[in-house]
Amino acid sequence: MTQQLRFIQVGTGGFGGYWCSKVLPAIVHELGAARLVAAVDINPQAHQNIISNVGIDPSRCYTDLRQALEENPCDFVVIVLPAHLHEYAVDLALEFECDILMEKPVSDSMESSCRVYRKVKRAGRKLAVTYSHRFDQDKQTLQQYVQSGLYGRLHYLIGRFTSNNRSAVNDPREYAHHHYLISSAVHQFDIIRSITGSNAKTVYTQSWNPQWAPFKEHSTALVQMEMENGVRVFFEGSKSNATQLNGWSNDYFRAECEFGTLELDRRKLVARSDLGFPHPRTAELPLLEQKHWTHTWLMKMFIDWVNGGEAPPNHLEDNMQCTALQYAAIESGLTGKLVDVQQFLQQHLGRVQQV
Ligand SMILES: NC(=O)c1ccc[n+]([C@@H]2O[C@H](COP(=O)([O-])OP(=O)(O)OC[C@H]3O[C@@H](n4cnc5c(N)ncnc54)[C@H](O)[C@@H]3O)[C@@H](O)[C@H]2O)c1
Repeated sequence: MTQQLRFIQVGTGGFGGYWCSKVLPAIVHELGAARLVAAVDINPQAHQNIISNVGIDPSRCYTDLRQALEENPCDFVVIVLPAHLHEYAVDLALEFECDILMEKPVSDSMESSCRVYRKVKRAGRKLAVTYSHRFDQDKQTLQQYVQSGLYGRLHYLIGRFTSNNRSAVNDPREYAHHHYLISSAVHQFDIIRSITGSNAKTVYTQSWNPQWAPFKEHSTALVQMEMENGVRVFFEGSKSNATQLNGWSNDYFRAECEFGTLELDRRKLVARSDLGFPHPRTAELPLLEQKHWTHTWLMKMFIDWVNGGEAPPNHLEDNMQCTALQYAAIESGLTGKLVDVQQFLQQHLGRVQQV
């Protein structure tokens, strides 16, 4: 029988509010997978989210992470802070010998992400990142069909995430100043890696801001990738469009396979083929079924790992590939040059040997 691990939730407002209302009740109460011992948010009003949804005593809610760690021994922390604070929270968690489950991205720069990687490795601790959209029902189903071989070899993949986020710029929580590829597309890069079953070899990006977009950084990108297994990928992403064609949880991915085209659009997966028996001309494919997807599933896998089970697919090592692809895509968009993703990763890791 596995031990009930103790954890601290760091960040209970903003997206932490979602964790408090949807993820933690399932983990703590429904699955009984771990025990919440404290919560931290610099904004005391945000404590109410965890008090009312998970039922923690208000005396266990802190505004300072160090104090919470000093007063509440725990096995792991869940970090749901803005990206520029991830490294700070990781440092403290490692100081108190905790494992870490953290919201995406690893950090807000390639340099900081590499430092996080080195520090976690040196400390010999476990860290997983919640790139949640890859672990959603529709994307997992497409991945399984592509990798089943039923439709032959994967030829190339097309992806799209397009939305109208222009109205969000007055809301500072909407990352109005962040580059689109940092704030949003990192999820889609992770999905691309999982559907193709490969890390990226090269990336070439054209990114820009249309005249009407109120964003401070590039809000639109057309990205071309070659994966290490030879599969080609084209991805379209924008937060500046007039409509939300394929927004959050409603992505578009089209996998062109040897014997069929698999098209996922707004959570509907359709297979098409003109090649005849045994492939129907058009067939809607059923989505996989399981009780929990995205964050709850990821947190459960993380807890099993800390309890001595297998590492989940979103462990830090895997995430560094995603991080490298993300920052290499940004660099390509800024320089206009094709970037070798593996070289980019090794160069940056090499620069932070000593931490
Ligand atoms: N997986 C997803 O689908 C998804 C969606 C949205 C956000 N996110 C991620 O969630 C994380 C949080 O994003 P957000 O929009 O909620 O950020 P946010 O700026 O709203 O901050 C979240 C909370 O952190 C608190 N906070 C800030 N500084 C703190 C500190 N020093 N100590 C303790 N608490 C502090 C804030 O008061 C707030 O309640 C980011 O990493 C973001 O990328 C993931």
